[in-house]
Amino acid sequence: MDDKENIIMDKLTKICTCKSISKYKIKQAIEKGYDNIETIRKKTGAGSGYCNGKNCTEPIQNLIDDFWENK
Ligand code: FES
Repeated sequence: MDDKENIIMDKLTKICTCKSISKYKIKQAIEKGYDNIETIRKKTGAGSGYCNGKNCTEPIQNLIDDFWENK
């Protein structure tokens, strides 16, 4: 997959389904320096939905970890 296709897939993939927050939006926040769950929640709204982050906290943490491992 090239970069454009990855971006499209990231925009279509919802990490926080309660708030319909995409993987793309989470990754953008991480790249801008929001580097922990709390700051990402405040920036994007992810984790503030019906499940209160039960379903999206781990995937968000995985994206943070991936970012730092590949930096
Ligand atoms: S999936 Fe994120 S708050 Fe429920």
